Amino acid sequence: MRKVVLVTGASSGVGRALCQRLLQEDDGLHLCLACRNPDRAEAARAALLAACPSAQITSVQVDVSDLRSVLRAAAELRRRFQRLDCVYLNAGIMPQPQLDVSALLLGFFSRKVIHMLCTAEGLLTQHDKVTADGLQEVFATNVFGHFLLVRELEPLLCRGDGPARLVWTSSRNARKANFSLQDFQHRGGQEPYSSSKYAMDLLSVALNRKLNQRGLYSSVACPGTMLTNMTYGILPAFVWTLLMPIIWLLRFLVDSFTLTPHNGAEALVWLFRQKPESLDPLSKYLSATSGFGSTYVTAQQMDLDEDTAERFYHSLLELETHVKATLQGADAQS
Ligand SMILES: NC(=O)c1ccc[n+]([C@@H]2O[C@H](COP(=O)([O-])OP(=O)(O)OC[C@H]3O[C@@H](n4cnc5c(N)ncnc54)[C@H](OP(=O)(O)O)[C@@H]3O)[C@@H](O)[C@H]2O)c1
Repeated sequence: MRKVVLVTGASSGVGRALCQRLLQEDDGLHLCLACRNPDRAEAARAALLAACPSAQITSVQVDVSDLRSVLRAAAELRRRFQRLDCVYLNAGIMPQPQLDVSALLLGFFSRKVIHMLCTAEGLLTQHDKVTADGLQEVFATNVFGHFLLVRELEPLLCRGDGPARLVWTSSRNARKANFSLQDFQHRGGQEPYSSSKYAMDLLSVALNRKLNQRGLYSSVACPGTMLTNMTYGILPAFVWTLLMPIIWLLRFLVDSFTLTPHNGAEALVWLFRQKPESLDPLSKYLSATSGFGSTYVTAQQMDLDEDTAERFYHSLLELETHVKATLQGADAQS
């Protein structure tokens, strides 16, 4: 039987590279591309088929920041498939990231210069906004839309006839200091992206506690720093070109500059090869690239506690009940 793998955000960047690499691993997969833009999904599908003509590739339209779209897509997937073997929760945004030049200059004269260059911590300003569902957009896209998708796909994932897995594209930029249980949507903060990635790490831990006994395993990965649609616009193209020799040199000091989506997909593909039961639920799996350009995977213990993960999960369940009731109320009125 063909394994069925769903990838959100498969239209570009690491999601698209991941699809290509998964088909190189196993061209017998049924790959379902979960994308918000049907034209971009079709372009990705055509390119993947050109590289692997025997592959079975379909797509489903989903905007993960729009809760109705998530519910519709999940219903469509339940109609189409009996089971899902793996879901990559990869779609994500960093809203209008801009380089804070003064923070960069100050950082060069601090002891944290390498750390700053590796994680971009404190270097990017972002502008979050509120979605039509009344949620913070970064939280809705990176976390809650995916949480709802997993909840709605549980019947396909927890079938009891072998393990299924979730893989979240998190980040090295997930920081405990930027997350608060009291403001988990990050309405009042300046680091919505980091907060959302930390929330993702907590959620993965909580899902393992809830669903391992039903055969569903969750892992988190970081693809490293890549040039993709998300990051390329932060600086003018010529600045990236000027920076490139420095980044290549930095690779001898730190291994997080994967640079290409192909390299960035390393940990995501590596996870696919592992038995999900054998993975550490408290580790984040990192794509890494050496100074000489070889790519490998490392594991890092996540800076979180299971009690917070559990409490966050319950907050998400409450929010789910609330938003579903709101959507039903709106439907009843129209
Ligand atoms: N780039 C990095 O250095 C880096 C580092 C660490 C982690 N990551 C993570 O890697 C993941 C992929 O990002 P990327 O770097 O590959 O950037 P990207 O090329 O911009 O890919 C983002 C993907 O997410 C999709 N997407 C965005 N909002 C969506 C929505 N509301 N509904 C459905 N799909 C949506 C995009 O679709 P469209 O094609 O329609 O825009 C695109 O396919 C993200 O979760 C990101 O946080 C990236």
